[in-house]
Amino acid sequence: MGYLDRFKLDGKVAIVTGSSRGIGNATATGLCEAGAAVVFTATTLESAQAAAAAAAEKTGAKTLGLKCCVEDVEDVKKLFRDVVNAFGTVDILFNNAGIANIADDLVKLDPADIRHHVDVNLNGVIYCCQEAAKIMLAKGSGSIINMCSMSAHIYNGPQKATYYAATKGGVLSLTRTLACELAPGGVRVNCISPGYHMTEMAKQWTDCHPIWLERIPMGRFADPYELSGTVIYLASDASSYVTGAEIVVDGGYTLY
Ligand SMILES: NC(=O)c1ccc[n+]([C@@H]2O[C@H](COP(=O)([O-])OP(=O)(O)OC[C@H]3O[C@@H](n4cnc5c(N)ncnc54)[C@H](O)[C@@H]3O)[C@@H](O)[C@H]2O)c1
Repeated sequence: MGYLDRFKLDGKVAIVTGSSRGIGNATATGLCEAGAAVVFTATTLESAQAAAAAAAEKTGAKTLGLKCCVEDVEDVKKLFRDVVNAFGTVDILFNNAGIANIADDLVKLDPADIRHHVDVNLNGVIYCCQEAAKIMLAKGSGSIINMCSMSAHIYNGPQKATYYAATKGGVLSLTRTLACELAPGGVRVNCISPGYHMTEMAKQWTDCHPIWLERIPMGRFADPYELSGTVIYLASDASSYVTGAEIVVDGGYTLY
């Protein structure tokens, strides 16, 4: 097998959470291009199915659209059951789904909003890892990729992001610990920490864009599609000896 063949995902089954738009959609489409059968998920069945159909038409890959609110354990269990019924297994899980609302100072935050962010950004990732691990450990292989953020490392202002940063710090710790727990079972766990990618999430803070731009050595925001190479690498045998790693894709933002 030539080295480039190790990036190919033919015959693999991938789930990408929150893939009806943004980074999830772009990278799920990238996984289709690399040869995987890809399950697109969204908070509504209609948007998941529309995204899956669009990617199938564009790439010729096998796709499926399923509803999954990641903070709902029963929804997550159903997602994995449905994928196994449709495709027989799960080889790759990209825990991409996440939220970041425009927030206020810590002292003014609504506890319900805090809980919701922790439920979606952290607990949702743990629930999905749990279901994926059951399937992957049983067959002795699999790759889990968690969506972290440069906010796990730095003060990512000027926008207020206390609970967002805390959830992403949790994802980083989860990734490292789970990588050790699952390595003997043949399952790799890694995470990606992006800098600013121009999605609906990042567009919320229009006032901050000039400040962010000044801090990016590459002088531009990323297109969501630019994360596909990293996701394909971590999903594939090209990264067969990589586990517990964090790949930062930020145009140099965190170098200062
Ligand atoms: N855009 C950036 O600059 C940036 C930087 C670092 C990290 N991230 C992370 O990348 C991920 C994707 O963000 P994005 O920028 O594409 O934003 P986005 O808002 O465009 O996409 C977020 C996706 O998550 C889904 N989602 C939201 N709540 C959900 C829930 N309860 N259950 C399941 N899915 C849910 C949404 O439907 C959407 O598809 C997030 O985890 C985000 O924290 C983004």
